[in-house]
Amino acid sequence: YDEVGLRPRKLHEYIGQNKVKENLKVFIEASKQRNEALDHVLLYGPPGLGKTTLAGIIASELGVNIRITSGPAIEKPGDLAAILTNLGNFDVLFIDEIHRINRSVEEILYPAMEDYALDIIIGKGPSARSIRLDLPKFTLIGATTRAGLLTSPLRDRFGVINRLEMYTIDELMLIVKRSAGILGMGIDEDGAREIASRSRGTPRIANRILKRVRDFAQVKADGYISRDVAQMGLDALEIDPIGLDGVDRNMLLSIINKFGGGPVGLDTLAASIGEEADTIEDVYEPYLLQLGFINKTPRGRMATRLAYDHFGIKE
Ligand code: ADE
Repeated sequence: YDEVGLRPRKLHEYIGQNKVKENLKVFIEASKQRNEALDHVLLYGPPGLGKTTLAGIIASELGVNIRITSGPAIEKPGDLAAILTNLGNFDVLFIDEIHRINRSVEEILYPAMEDYALDIIIGKGPSARSIRLDLPKFTLIGATTRAGLLTSPLRDRFGVINRLEMYTIDELMLIVKRSAGILGMGIDEDGAREIASRSRGTPRIANRILKRVRDFAQVKADGYISRDVAQMGLDALEIDPIGLDGVDRNMLLSIINKFGGGPVGLDTLAASIGEEADTIEDVYEPYLLQLGFINKTPRGRMATRLAYDHFGIKE
């Protein structure tokens, strides 16, 4: 089983994000009753929280097909036009990393979202004219790590805007136990809690860790995931008790030791640890902010008391 095999297919199987789930259930039901396409949906939040999974579930609950693509994959307006004209009525078009579509493609999207229409320019110069082509009624589901990365005309065209939150340890334990069941692994509460507490609020990480711990359970133990086996696996992966990995530690220790605890600008910090600024912002920072280990200030990032305490360093 890959990640796809562990993905829930229906809303009732999807753990967590309760508010989003409850609301979507109403909007899906209402659109079906009215026999209309569901309004366009924007999903945003840190990677790995289930945006693609949720898009698949929405399509499945609507009983329609889903076409999956991403912002960078749509290079030209014609690429998007080809996708749009091939959709079935009420189908879902999922665009991951929608903040990365280019301007000329984005402009095709406006009339498509608003009027289910495609404006095509024929000819060049003074004799150029535009014809309007009807599109099937469809639902665009856009996903992005930060809603602020979208232009406002694009953001304004989504009728449903949902922020996905990090999962609690209890929710992650349910996900880990569900996944272990699908993988045919035995696991107890303590084993599941050990994995859940080191998964930084993120199901994708929980499932990835589960698969690596399964390898340790299989090769170094009796195949069963107890707390001891989970700990052995996680220690070998150099994931600490609260889920920090080598990059997190490097970043925090860099702020503390090289920049006197901060504030240090994002680009300076990125250069000092050899990571992309975007990766720091999208992948590493959300969990460190959630833990209260860093603060974002107008002059840059600062390490907090909690971060110092975690490493046993005096401020
Ligand atoms: N697997 C990944 N994300 C999940 C979720 N939110 N609920 C259930 N299983 C999942």
